Amino acid sequence: MKILGVNALFHDPAAALVIDGETVAAAEEERFSRRKHGHRPVPFAAWELPELAARWCLEHAGLDISEIDAVAYSYDPALARPADELGLDDPWDHLRQTYARRAPGFLATALPGLDPADVRFVPHHVAHAASAGLAAPHETCDVLVLDGRGESASHLAGRYDGGELEVLRTQELPHSLGLLYETVTEHLGFLRSSDEYKVMALASYGRPRFLDELRRTVYPTGDGGFRTEPVDWQSLVKQRRPDEPWTSDHADLAASVQHRLEEVLLDLAGWLRGRTRGSVLTLAGGVALNCVANTRLFTDSGYDQVWVQPAAGDAGTALGGALHVARAVGDTTSPMPGADLGRGWSDDDLEAALTTARVPFERPRDVAEAVAECLADNGVVAWFQGRSEYGPRALGRRSLLAHPGHEKNLERLNDVKGREQFRPVAPMVLADRAPAIFGRGPLPSRYMLFVHDVDAGWRDRIPAVVHVDGTARVQTVDAEDEPLMARVLRGFERRTGLPVVINTSLNTAGRPMVDDPRDALECFGSAPVDLLAIGPFVVRRAAPRGTA
Ligand SMILES: [Fe+2]
Repeated sequence: MKILGVNALFHDPAAALVIDGETVAAAEEERFSRRKHGHRPVPFAAWELPELAARWCLEHAGLDISEIDAVAYSYDPALARPADELGLDDPWDHLRQTYARRAPGFLATALPGLDPADVRFVPHHVAHAASAGLAAPHETCDVLVLDGRGESASHLAGRYDGGELEVLRTQELPHSLGLLYETVTEHLGFLRSSDEYKVMALASYGRPRFLDELRRTVYPTGDGGFRTEPVDWQSLVKQRRPDEPWTSDHADLAASVQHRLEEVLLDLAGWLRGRTRGSVLTLAGGVALNCVANTRLFTDSGYDQVWVQPAAGDAGTALGGALHVARAVGDTTSPMPGADLGRGWSDDDLEAALTTARVPFERPRDVAEAVAECLADNGVVAWFQGRSEYGPRALGRRSLLAHPGHEKNLERLNDVKGREQFRPVAPMVLADRAPAIFGRGPLPSRYMLFVHDVDAGWRDRIPAVVHVDGTARVQTVDAEDEPLMARVLRGFERRTGLPVVINTSLNTAGRPMVDDPRDALECFGSAPVDLLAIGPFVVRRAAPRGTA
């Protein structure tokens, strides 16, 4: 069966295509519309559909919408309740229900030829759960979903066995660890529903000195659920305006919330494991993008393995919804093949794009060697290869690469990207070298969703990728899965003795990740990047006028 998955209602609109149980394509709307996160997560914008991503999914598979057997929409308005009944202060939330109920009609307008009767509503957290339990390479696994909110809950705990989900516990709103984290994100002067990872980074600079207060208001109930009572944030630390510098008070508050989140997650995971005696935990929902908490779950929850959906935020519900419906109609589903599920271009297409743009380019004998050479000379490389990533992490398809041995490269990359200086950049490492350098977190770590401790002997050798607390968010590269990137890493190691490069997403501040060749050229043209490696071609930065 051919199932199109659609996420639209809250965050990160996205589309995915599952054919006969195989994941064929998945992409976020922001990569096409060039508007970060697609739309703001407000009720007024909830009608906006991932039209461009959905059309591309069909085009990629050579399908007409009339050939689609079902469309999975990752929200079920029949499960929703009025916001005031849920204890939420969201007077326009009813718009979401209205838009969701009308989604079949909207979709039929956006995708002419679609029969609205083919649209199926999938409960939001079931879609999240499927994006973990059915996409992970484990036939049997436990699943924890934690996000801001779904129809009326913020959490689901369950187990997948033979593709069937058994729901063991949900937590009703207004209690929500995702909304708690969003609220503190806003209080600390960052953008709600977008900048939560900045709070996580800031937490490393602080001490959790407000933990006692938070333990009184945010606590597990011992039955697999939890409470998040209102917190008087202002009494703890005065709200930071976005333009104000952050202080140790802000870092301490971030550290306290982060620490408490980890404690509650460990309790929820412990309860689930107590019920199932499972050995594999899979995670989805926006909270599962918290790499520090994920590592805590890996080290302290008792599970042998933890697998996290790389598009753990709402974008992933497009894929999860489609996988869920595929199972419901009787298909056997396969694990997702990787995160590179977005758009890709042939060498001929790339050559045509470079020729049209009239930029001087060359085709070196081996692009990997040309890149390794540039990185060893301390150049910054824009790396555009293969199909783009599903989810927020650059995993070697649309990346900025640099030398990790020069401490100043952290500042340099944050300047290239226009980001705050407390933000870390991450290391990419050959999988077979990783255990000697990185510990504590799980290895291999293909999707960059855990933090690892950097071995003391290596911290001075790769200072640019070591966060203030001695950790790094590692992506391991397996030579069999990623032969080209592995050759870059080997070439770089041969020249420098370091099997590690800096990898951060290919974009500038506030913009979505580069997706197509034009985006790559625009980014290269406007940012101080030395080399663009695009398919087998390279574009070199000309020497500034007066220095040649
Ligand atoms: Fe969600």
